[in-house]
Amino acid sequence: AADLIAASCSYPVTLLQQVDSTNAEALRRLSSGATPPLLVIAEQQTAGRGRRGRRWASPFGENLYYSLLLRVSGGMRQLEGLSLVVGLALLDALREAGVNEAGLKWPNDLLVGGRKIAGILLELSGDPADVCHVVLGIGVNINMRVAPSGDAIDQPWTSLRQILGEQVDRNQFVTSLTRQLERYLDMHRLRGFASLREQWEESHLWQGCLVSLAAGSQAIKGRVLGVDDTGALRLEVEGREQVFSGGELSLRLH
Ligand code: ATP
Ligand code: BTN
Repeated sequence: AADLIAASCSYPVTLLQQVDSTNAEALRRLSSGATPPLLVIAEQQTAGRGRRGRRWASPFGENLYYSLLLRVSGGMRQLEGLSLVVGLALLDALREAGVNEAGLKWPNDLLVGGRKIAGILLELSGDPADVCHVVLGIGVNINMRVAPSGDAIDQPWTSLRQILGEQVDRNQFVTSLTRQLERYLDMHRLRGFASLREQWEESHLWQGCLVSLAAGSQAIKGRVLGVDDTGALRLEVEGREQVFSGGELSLRLH
């Protein structure tokens, strides 16, 4: 049932029954003159998007599709590590909901037992060197029990319901996630990603692991050293450290 009501939080919330993508909707509202911060939540997405044009399965009434639009005025520094910080907020929200075993996969997947439970997609509008806007798009599998028909998910996934064995209150999760986001965004704004770097590494599932990093048709093999103060991935490749940034990279266990 559509029981998602606008949770009490400090951002103006728009709740939609159906939309193509909450990220797209937040950006459209920006273009038509709305002032951030604002939050868009939907019961269903017909064209939920992941990175690199991939699709995010978004059945009606079961999960959370959440986009927070923010204004960024501090230049590049305010964007560095931002998507990783969203991962930390999500991790704490999952803990509050009773899921303690979730971990992060660089740059921004949340996994439980090797299965994806949430995804993060940041989209920018404007010039990052000047004033710009960013939409923090978050998808969390809350009560999904079967893969939605016609929208098969081509990798292992899970949901809060599957892990906890009971229906989860999505409103409660929205409240908790929003509070965690505010907390982490404040820390990030005041002290930068550098102040959260170690905490992020502690939750990184593949810390120290041998991985291969796919960038287009190229694959680079190395050992994960961690992340740097901008959120870029540090790999040891043939005895030397190399740093990789950018959202177009894909990490696999080697
Ligand atoms: P990467 O390692 O590059 O992050 P990824 O395979 O996780 O790779 P993303 O673009 O981050 O790719 O996420 C999109 C992918 O997530 C889809 O291709 C699909 O496999 C998976 N997916 C889609 N919908 C869901 C969902 N509701 N829950 C879990 N996973 C999903
Ligand atoms: C990924 O893992 O590739 C990121 C998935 C992000 C999905 C969320 S759901 C809410 C928001 N709206 C979208 O269209 N995508 C993000």
